[in-house]
Amino acid sequence: MDGVTDAPFRYITDIYGKPDIIYTEFISVKGLILGKAVIQRMLLHHKTETTTVAQFFGCEPEYFYQAALVALEKGYDGVDINMGCPDKSVFHRGAGAGLILQPKLAKEIILSVKKGVKDGKEKYNIERNITVSIKTRTGYREPQTKEWISNLLETEPDVICIHARTFAQKYSGLADWSQIGIAADLAKNTKTKIFGNGDIKSKNQAIQRIKEFNLAGVLIGRAALGNPWIFKGVIPTTKERFKVLLEHCKKFVEFFPTANLSIMRKHLGWYAKDFPHAAEVRNELMQVNSIENVKKILSKTQEFL
Ligand SMILES: Cc1cc2nc3c(=O)[nH]c(=O)nc-3n(C[C@H](O)[C@H](O)[C@H](O)COP(=O)(O)O)c2cc1C
Repeated sequence: MDGVTDAPFRYITDIYGKPDIIYTEFISVKGLILGKAVIQRMLLHHKTETTTVAQFFGCEPEYFYQAALVALEKGYDGVDINMGCPDKSVFHRGAGAGLILQPKLAKEIILSVKKGVKDGKEKYNIERNITVSIKTRTGYREPQTKEWISNLLETEPDVICIHARTFAQKYSGLADWSQIGIAADLAKNTKTKIFGNGDIKSKNQAIQRIKEFNLAGVLIGRAALGNPWIFKGVIPTTKERFKVLLEHCKKFVEFFPTANLSIMRKHLGWYAKDFPHAAEVRNELMQVNSIENVKKILSKTQEFL
């Protein structure tokens, strides 16, 4: 998730959530290949127990090929192609959800990534399985799951994850899981696994969805913000939340020693909830610039003692 699943976030989620898979932020293949410095930070890889997949966006098959090589060189376990981002800046370049309108190009990109993974495995002597996956939506203005997912299946990716909203819906309304059921039926006799995504709020709900729609898995996005415990189905105490919040800050400084801690503010707001006067504490946390600031604010609460 853009601006969220950086290396410190992935570190904390790996330790306290232990999901099966975690993805990087989406990374521009063009920015990566043209050497933008910020991208190196986004792709920073560290050893995790959780399978870690690098997600890329763009519209140039050649850049995707090269990006796949970089992902393998860095040690990622998979390469995911974003075909779902509805942001104007991405969509208008023909990337993200813009690829739903370019089914032929979408297939070319998948095939380029597959080739990149194959060549990268040879180049870097990698024997373990490296997945090629796609994260997309159900359609452009209206769901077009049947034609769109059938188009993607022709290239035999390892996984297709469907966020059950159209491009036009962005994040509004409810995810339409019946469309994920349609995709699962289409993929039944293929090598491709289907993951569902959209509005999952708990581990129990995730398991129900998997059973109901016969899926290989589901992805959890917003409900995991400030909440790595969701993957274990555990509700933490406030004391535990504060402990992990501080650990997350320390990891941030460790991974990015020259970055400003203000980048962490949104995460602090996500952790600091469900205790008396949480709103006031959150307001104060929105001003912090150092771990000392964070400790000082938390130490005023009873839960910190
Ligand atoms: C802040 C934010 C950043 C996101 N960034 C990405 C991204 O980089 N790549 C991606 O595939 N989806 C991204 N998404 C979409 C989520 O992965 C997910 O599809 C969507 O939020 C629906 O799932 P949820 O209801 O579990 O959150 C982002 C969503 C949010 C809220």
